[in-house]
Amino acid sequence: MTESTGSTTELHERPREASRDPVISVRDLKVRYGERTVLDGVSLDIYRGETMVILGGSGSGKTTLLRHMEGLQRPTEGRVTVKGVDLATASRTTLTALRRSMGVSFQSAAMFNSMTVGDNVALPLLEHSSLAESTIRVMVRIKLQQVGLTHVEDLYPTQLSGGMRKRASLARALALDPEILFFDEPSAGLDPVIAAGLDDLILHLKSAYPITIVVVTHELTSAFLIADRMCMINEGKILAVGTVDEIRRNPDPRVQQFVRREADEPSEASSSYIVGA
Ligand SMILES: Nc1ncnc2c1ncn2[C@@H]1O[C@H](COP(=O)(O)OP(=O)(O)OP(=O)(O)O)[C@@H](O)[C@H]1O
Ligand SMILES: [Mg+2]
Repeated sequence: MTESTGSTTELHERPREASRDPVISVRDLKVRYGERTVLDGVSLDIYRGETMVILGGSGSGKTTLLRHMEGLQRPTEGRVTVKGVDLATASRTTLTALRRSMGVSFQSAAMFNSMTVGDNVALPLLEHSSLAESTIRVMVRIKLQQVGLTHVEDLYPTQLSGGMRKRASLARALALDPEILFFDEPSAGLDPVIAAGLDDLILHLKSAYPITIVVVTHELTSAFLIADRMCMINEGKILAVGTVDEIRRNPDPRVQQFVRREADEPSEASSSYIVGA
């Protein structure tokens, strides 16, 4: 469990401990594109209620791993199970039902630009629930408020800033109150203050809801702030996996190189949102 040092925001204190029940289990996953092996025998358990951060250089296969956990790509070698369902052999109906319990915020935010923000957020509710239109509109407003956005329902995604678009994409991912939230690069390309706001949002979500969160990022400051555990991918393999403290103490020089990068990162991103830091 994350220890409260009093030096971080109170959102960092966790009211519950992640149980040791793996909600996602990846075993010896291999992914090849033509001659290129992108994932080369990846095994990883993600426990119910924890926030797992996946780290790795650009092109190391983070999004590919995420897409396999999300059921968007079927494993051809190795096994991925989510809530006990084997994603390689699951029927389309089972997969659809499973995906209803997942919220996905893509690396690109992936909003439909021809639809208003409100309609984008309403989409999963229209597709997966039989709620009345008026109820859906209320829920859309609540979901947008949950990510700190108000009065944006009638705007189009292109009228939002990058940070607002990420938040709106998160609101859409949260629309069905998912058990598992996947968040690919929440802060990529955002200004440090806005990126810090997204970290706070993730901390709030994990303290307020019994949700399992899988975040891909290459922002180390953010990773160390939001993670319960983290894993590092390097050359298609998991280089290290463990709690934040275990990663900091990992003797592998390649891990230490990563950790030292965190120490070297400019601090203005963190100082603006870590109370008392
Ligand atoms: N559909 C595809 N066909 C062929 N190659 C692909 C495909 N998808 C991904 N790749 C390649 O697989 C490698 C891993 O891609 P992936 O998007 O998983 O990396 P990443 O770690 O998420 O990178 P980034 O940090 O830049 O987002 C890259 O070299 C990419 O070009
Ligand atoms: Mg990626």
